[in-house]
Formats: sequence, C-alpha cells, structure tokens
Amino acid sequence: MGFEGTGYGKAILIGEHFVVHGARGIGIGMPRKTTVTLEKAPSLSFSFECGDLLKEATRRVLEKVAGGTGFKVSVTSEFPVSAGMGWSASYCVALARAAAAAAGRELGDREAAKAAFEGERAFHGNPSGIDNALAAHGGVMLFKRGREPEPLAVGGKFHFVIANSGKKGPTKELVGKVSSIRAGNPSEYGALEEAEEWLIGKAIEALARGDAKALGKLMDENNELLARLGLSTPIIDDIRGVALENGALGAKITGAGGGGCVLILAPDAGKAGEIADKLGKYGAFGFLIE
Ligand code: MEV
Repeated sequence: MGFEGTGYGKAILIGEHFVVHGARGIGIGMPRKTTVTLEKAPSLSFSFECGDLLKEATRRVLEKVAGGTGFKVSVTSEFPVSAGMGWSASYCVALARAAAAAAGRELGDREAAKAAFEGERAFHGNPSGIDNALAAHGGVMLFKRGREPEPLAVGGKFHFVIANSGKKGPTKELVGKVSSIRAGNPSEYGALEEAEEWLIGKAIEALARGDAKALGKLMDENNELLARLGLSTPIIDDIRGVALENGALGAKITGAGGGGCVLILAPDAGKAGEIADKLGKYGAFGFLIE
C-alpha cells in the first residue's frame, strides 16, 4: 500500500533574492502540484532517475518525519523540474506529508514547511524558506525570514502566465553571487533593497484592491532591480518582450533568475491565453489567482 502527499509549485511575485537577506517577499503557491507516493521497502530506493542532491534531501526529510529511510519513492508532477517553479520544495513538502502518512499522522502546513526546509538545505546552502512555505500553504503569502508566513488579501482576479526559458538557473550559485554583491557593495545593495521593500508595500495594496494594472507595473520594476543584480538573460528579455508586446501588464524573472521562469500578468483570461500561445515554445501556461 502506498502513502501519498502533495505540495504546490510556486512563483515569486516580488522579492526573490532579497528575502534571503531578511527583506520581505511575496509568493504564490501555484495551483499545480507534485505528488509523492511512498511504499515500505528494505532500504531507500526510487522509481525514477535522481541525482545525489535529491537523494540527500529525501534522506533528510524521511529521517526527520518518519524516523527512517526504508521506502521506495515515486513522484508525479503537474509542472516541470528545475525550471524555477519550486519543484524541489514541492517535492520535499509532498515527501514530508507522505512520510507522516506512513508514520500514521498528518502534518499541518507549518510542520510540512519546516520538515521540507531540511531537504531544501541539501539543494542550496542558504534557502530563505519562501519556497517550502509556499509549497506547503499555497495561496498568496507575505514572507519574511524567521517569521510565520502571512496569507495576503486578494481583492480581484489576477490572470498569470508562466513561461520557462528552458535554461536551468543555478540557484545556489546565483544566491552566492547576490550575497557577494551585497558584501562587496553594501550601499548599492541597500538602495536596491529599499526599492524592493517599497514595491512590496505597494504590491500588498494592489493585490488587496484587485488592481492588476498597478501590480503589473510593480512586477516590471522588480524585474529592473533583479536585472541590476545581473540575474536576467537574453532569453528572459525575449520572453518579457513578447509578453509586453502582446498586451501583458507586467513581466518579471521569478525565482533565482539566470534562466528559469518568467512570470507574466495579463489583463484578462483571453489575453492570458493569447500570451501563453505566443510563448508556446517556452511551455507557457496560465493560472488564475483570486
Ligand atoms: C528561489 O525560488 C528564491 C530565492 O530567493 C532563494 C530563496 O529564497 O531561498 C532566489
């Protein structure tokens, strides 16, 4: 008999990288999931190909939640791996929930996020915790390192599209790169962080008012800050260009950058569909937050 758990994918709306260093961030638990199934087995095994980091993350989460690693792990996902949609965090949350089920209990969102954090540390040394919080809770959340994530009010319909550059952004390296910029040039980094905090305040208000036009503009401004940290690429710029030429209200790097995904905000469902079609070669799909 199998034990099952699920975790959401994620998109960061405002504040990736800055959240690592204590600023606030806003993220979305996407309505697309990863499901992990565990079957009892003599030792740890996988029904799919996986690298050493995933094995290590799996061991950590199983030890923490189930007290042992005697399982065969299977996984299915409604979104791609290594694309900046938080696959590793959704896997770790799904795994933690499946491990709890195997141990005859249920994990609340908070506990699931905490257990998954142990696994996330195997993937990149200094995760802020935003990905695993979003993977566990879903919805739209305000995040600040070391605090409980707060659900945010959403006062209207927001039609998002997410497009995958097809190039994996190396999260660990990019987090390290931003940390070096912060250490080497604290006054320039400080000015960017101050701008990011301002965007967060305005984005909270725009979400609550259901004001997609204002939110789109804030997303563009956030992208500008991330580009100044050297996190954009020609493909990201191309995807943004296509989205904006086709009526998007805003478009930005989401996640670590250097590849990965672009988050686009469309004015309505029709335009979201058109933009997703135009970006078909980037595996674009739409999702609604309300
Ligand atoms: C990755 O999805 C988001 C980053 O801010 C890293 C983190 O918060 O752990 C780049």
